[in-house]
Amino acid sequence: MGSKQIHLIGAGSLGLQAADILLAAGQQGEILAYDDNTSLHSSELLPGVFIQGGIDLVGKLDPGSMVAIAIADTAVRQRIYSNLRQKGYKFPNVVHPAAVISKFAHIGFGNIIFPGVVIDPAATVGNFVVLNKNSSVGHNAILEDFITITPNCTLTCPVDSGVFIGMGARLLPGSRVGENSIIGAGAVVNKPIPANVIAIGVPAKIKEKGMIK
Ligand SMILES: CC(C)(COP(=O)(O)OP(=O)(O)OC[C@H]1O[C@@H](n2cnc3c(N)ncnc32)[C@H](O)[C@@H]1OP(=O)(O)O)[C@@H](O)C(=O)NCCC(=O)NCCS
Repeated sequence: MGSKQIHLIGAGSLGLQAADILLAAGQQGEILAYDDNTSLHSSELLPGVFIQGGIDLVGKLDPGSMVAIAIADTAVRQRIYSNLRQKGYKFPNVVHPAAVISKFAHIGFGNIIFPGVVIDPAATVGNFVVLNKNSSVGHNAILEDFITITPNCTLTCPVDSGVFIGMGARLLPGSRVGENSIIGAGAVVNKPIPANVIAIGVPAKIKEKGMIK
């Protein structure tokens, strides 16, 4: 990372981890954090990383400002970006130095990539994807935008926008996860999962209750 200030949206657990990754990656410029939880305001997220105030403050920054969105909820992350996308900000990738990303992988912007993540050559990661620790993205995986991948997942198929994948899930080749669906922790996905459902188990099946609108 560089010497320029970074504005970090989200001071919850993902914000904490993103700040830690920025520092591990050598960020020298100030990291300024924002969160709508007023009880956090004026406190320190990490030593030297102060929470400035609500997220609305970010909308008042100068064009060219560097902004990272560290909000785990995929829909909220998407909404925040759509409010900021016309402002002329830069959305860098926040990448831990212990992630291994092939130089032949295709990576967009605004992503947060944890230690232990491995991304193969020819894999595609879109924009504003969170890839949590020790998850792997195979050469045949195509991850669209605003996806949250939690720790220890194995991904070897396309994943559409807005998907949340629980810890330790495995997505086998030939499968796919449709837009905004949730895959439960520990699931093994061996067939295409449609959009807007929750799927759990081994092999993964759609839960009858709890369908998401
Ligand atoms: C799939 C998930 C979203 C479902 O949440 P939910 O709709 O609130 O479901 P509930 O907790 O009400 O459970 C409903 C039923 O599904 C079962 N179930 C829930 N999650 C399951 C999972 N991952 N695998 C297998 N069964 C699961 C429950 O045991 C329960 O079964 P029962 O009706 O026989 O008692 C959630 O359990 C999950 O796996 N979340 C991922 C958490 C995670 O990895 N977070 C990352 C932190 S970094």
